[in-house]
Amino acid sequence: MRWSGKCDSCGEWNTLVEEVVRQESAGRGARAATGDARVYPITRVDAQQDERLRTGLVELDRVLGGGIVPGSMILLGGDPGIGKSTLMMQLGRAETRILYVSGEESLRQIKLRAERLKVGGEHFLVLAETNLDAILRAVQEQKPDLVVIDSIQTVFRPELESAPGSISQVRESTAVLLRHAKSENIPMIVIGHVTKDGVIAGPRVLEHMVDTVLQFEGDHHHSYRIVRGLKNRFGSTNEIGIFEMQENGLREVSNPSEVFLSDRSHGISGSCVTSSLEGTRALLIEVQALVTPSNYGTPQRTMSGLDARRVSLLLAVLEKRFGMHVGQYDVFVNIAGGVRIDEPAVDLAVCAAIVSSARDRAIDHATAVVGEVGLGGEVRSVGQVEKRVVEAEKLGFKRIIVPRGGIADKKKRGIEIIEVDLLAEAMEKLV
Ligand code: TYD
Ligand code: MG
Repeated sequence: MRWSGKCDSCGEWNTLVEEVVRQESAGRGARAATGDARVYPITRVDAQQDERLRTGLVELDRVLGGGIVPGSMILLGGDPGIGKSTLMMQLGRAETRILYVSGEESLRQIKLRAERLKVGGEHFLVLAETNLDAILRAVQEQKPDLVVIDSIQTVFRPELESAPGSISQVRESTAVLLRHAKSENIPMIVIGHVTKDGVIAGPRVLEHMVDTVLQFEGDHHHSYRIVRGLKNRFGSTNEIGIFEMQENGLREVSNPSEVFLSDRSHGISGSCVTSSLEGTRALLIEVQALVTPSNYGTPQRTMSGLDARRVSLLLAVLEKRFGMHVGQYDVFVNIAGGVRIDEPAVDLAVCAAIVSSARDRAIDHATAVVGEVGLGGEVRSVGQVEKRVVEAEKLGFKRIIVPRGGIADKKKRGIEIIEVDLLAEAMEKLV
């Protein structure tokens, strides 16, 4: 026994959490060994998928890969107050028999919220309980189509010594719920509070156990909320669902491009629109840049919604291949609306916004820009250009700059397609 402050495995400080180990009874291991452990040839395995449960929210179903798989377990993580409980209660608007278990609010509070969200009906069952045994009993009695646990940090097993919310309670409770979900074939959604860097002990350790991990994000200053799949055993993880928090709950945003461009002002330098791909959807977003003379020795580079290293790289390319010197300037780049974009297809738009601000000349309002920028100053092709072009056309853009060779049929469209090979070429056409 000695004091230990640093994790031997990952080298991080102050991340160790006490965990009380329970004595395993001898019977448990013995029973597991005599269980059904037959081996099958893969051809004999029945892969008939049961139908997925539709949540009634198209945005959420898309992220889940088309609905909830029977018997699966979903972890919904997110900052406190972001709207997890609201989202889950809104599932009650569909006809699904839902058992909503809350350990955070009283039945009266749940009722008040339900009234505000216009959720009701005999199919929406509520239980204010934190004792896991009582919760499981209710599940067994009611046999609902879906169980929601709000939140896993409040649930506890009385047999365990540690406090609710501690790592062993959270993990053990989840394991028990998981076994139940699988054996009864009842899907469960478990809510977990996580801060961005995952400091609250708990939900992070659950990510390996559950089938699907969803992250509910957005900042408190914007009303937009995004559901993102971080892990999905039954679908892809690159889809997002967009919601807007309103007076009476979350509204699905089915045409996000309009929303993200709604505040755009005319004739301002440093703004460029790009068509970004999120999963299967193209999304038009505005990249904003501000380039100003620096007052300090080390110029500032502040990014929001973008990878800072990627923007530094683009600044270096602009310097070397385009002759734009930003060494004495502060550069701020922002994605409007509080979204985060990680794909390199926004590169050209970021460069255009920076050049536009540096020259203080606005980019034409009806022009969109798509393309990855290489270190040689070349504009590289990006995936699914066609989809991006169609989205821009749909929103009334007149011109779009794309990497050469991505579009087969350039005529007979409502949008002019301008192909470019080089960054410099694109910049001269834009600003
Ligand atoms: P909540 O779902 O309680 O968050 P979480 O469960 O993730 O902690 O949402 C809380 C916030 O949402 C709160 O700040 C109020 C706001 N809200 C609305 O704006 N409209 C609504 O209809 C509801 C129910 C909540
Ligand atoms: Mg809540």
